[in-house]
Amino acid sequence: MSKYTLTINQKKQTVDVDSGTPLLWVLRDSLNLTGTKYGCGEGICGSCVVHIDGKAERSCILDVEDVVGNSITTIEGLADKPDHPIFKTWIELEVMQCGYCQPGQIMTLATLLEQNPKPSRKEIDDAMNEVLCRCGTYQRIRKAVAKLVEEK
Ligand code: FES
Ligand code: FES
Repeated sequence: MSKYTLTINQKKQTVDVDSGTPLLWVLRDSLNLTGTKYGCGEGICGSCVVHIDGKAERSCILDVEDVVGNSITTIEGLADKPDHPIFKTWIELEVMQCGYCQPGQIMTLATLLEQNPKPSRKEIDDAMNEVLCRCGTYQRIRKAVAKLVEEK
């Protein structure tokens, strides 16, 4: 075991874990930040997306030692701003079904809109198609993204 100090949601947190531990397990098991979800564990489904220095990354395939010194934001960090337009629109349009994939959807969308406030339909599809939803909420997600883009 080794100690690693990470910056998560603008707070420094020290964890004692084996090197090579995926960031996802550090967040969930060591820090009880369970908003970031485990789906495939192989970088495929997108349910574990967090922001690393403002970029959407899959925390299941990032080793803890590789994110020391980076700024990590989880869905809990984004939820510190309850009036965030994505949350408001998600609630208004009742996007979620079981909710499991939604942190990954929201974190992915947040970086897309941050980097490109008026993405084209193709740019939206390219970014969002990579996050799987077993409940098939894709149509409601599309509608919510279209509303957010229109309001920008
Ligand atoms: S759990 Fe990380 S991409 Fe599926
Ligand atoms: S809302 Fe259930 S998996 Fe997406």
